[in-house]
Amino acid sequence: MLAASAHIVIAGAGQAGGRAAEALRARGFQGGITMLGEEAHPPYERPQLSKDMLGTADKPVTFIKQARDWSSVLDVRLETGAPVADCDADRRTVTTADGRVFGFDRLLIATGTRPRRLDGLEGRGPKVQYLRNVEDALRFRKSIRDKSRIVIVGGGVIGLEAACAAAKHGCRTTVIENEPQLLARALPSLVSDIVADRHRSHGVDFIFGTTVTGATAGGVQLGNGAEIPADLILVGIGVEPVATVAERLGLLATAGIAVDACGRTAVPDVFCAGDAALQWSRCHGRDIRVETWANAQNQAIAVAGNMLGEQKDYVDPPWFWTDQYDLNIQVAGDMCDSDHIVRGEPASGRFSVIAMRGADLVGALSVNAAKDMAMLRRLLAANKRPARTDLESPAFDLRAALK
Ligand code: NAI
Repeated sequence: MLAASAHIVIAGAGQAGGRAAEALRARGFQGGITMLGEEAHPPYERPQLSKDMLGTADKPVTFIKQARDWSSVLDVRLETGAPVADCDADRRTVTTADGRVFGFDRLLIATGTRPRRLDGLEGRGPKVQYLRNVEDALRFRKSIRDKSRIVIVGGGVIGLEAACAAAKHGCRTTVIENEPQLLARALPSLVSDIVADRHRSHGVDFIFGTTVTGATAGGVQLGNGAEIPADLILVGIGVEPVATVAERLGLLATAGIAVDACGRTAVPDVFCAGDAALQWSRCHGRDIRVETWANAQNQAIAVAGNMLGEQKDYVDPPWFWTDQYDLNIQVAGDMCDSDHIVRGEPASGRFSVIAMRGADLVGALSVNAAKDMAMLRRLLAANKRPARTDLESPAFDLRAALK
């Protein structure tokens, strides 16, 4: 256990930062904890921004803890509106944008990601929005209540969850996706097609294989030459790591901040967790960043323990869910570059897809089949190698594979 005289600084006050601070106290750390966040708010979880907050007119944001409780309940010094602008590994200090200097014995980088920008659209007609923080969600909620004509750039999770909310509010909604299918990095085309059809049945239009190249007074221009009328452009084309701290430490962080299985960076006593961390994934067979709610929580908790001296590898397979109309879709591990076994009947609206690479189980997906997914996640986490013939048999009980 780290001495009670030690000081831990957490750069980033999002979900990962907040969960790490809680975990440090839950494990009995009695030293100082300072959490420095760019946003004006205490830590909150982001799924509500594209789900509950858009669906319900007056739903306020839910914080992990109220601002005052960080100090009064957990004795954590929380500084909001205080992005970290500099970091000195030798002097063991971080400096906020307003020039305040904080010393640390251990540092956790939990600065997460920011939306990738699509340049050249602002100021020419339609409003341009992103969906990453509370203010973005409140703005978008107002726009869909105003029944705007919306062009969404990007058919990923943000774009599609936003499209659901917009369609439910009667907005004329068009999604522009530059790949030939939706959610291409997570879903096989069988499932992408089901998602697209469900959106179409709620009035959402899709244009694939092109992007928005410019804005006009009354809409957007596409790379294929078409023009679409719009009052608002919502851009959801992925995220990139916020890596200021890592770069100041001399770490190369374009693809993410590289960490080992314990969450340690290459700089002694500096750790990283959450969306920005680049870590080995057995399912993917490569280093990846995991941009999910589950990872922001569970990796942060694991890394907090390792900051105090535990030596426990964090190896949970990635997992996320998305709710679109009556579809609950969950994805674990990696569905790309693999063979797929479909369990259940897609036409019934309830089925699973298992991804195998050779004899290895590397991914799983469920559509309205949460119980199957619970079992498949356990199989993935335990690195089980069930026989393909068993998985292909509709009568095979997945629980048997766990034994
Ligand atoms: P994403 O990576 O899920 O999807 C981006 C989509 O935009 C992809 O389909 C990509 O092909 C497309 N795209 C990229 N450049 C484009 C361009 N120039 N024109 C048209 N299409 C383009 O990222 P997204 O949706 O922005 O989400 C951001 C973050 O929020 C991610 O980290 C995501 O995991 C997280 N998130 C997770 C949710 C969940 O777990 N249910 C819900 C909402 C967001």
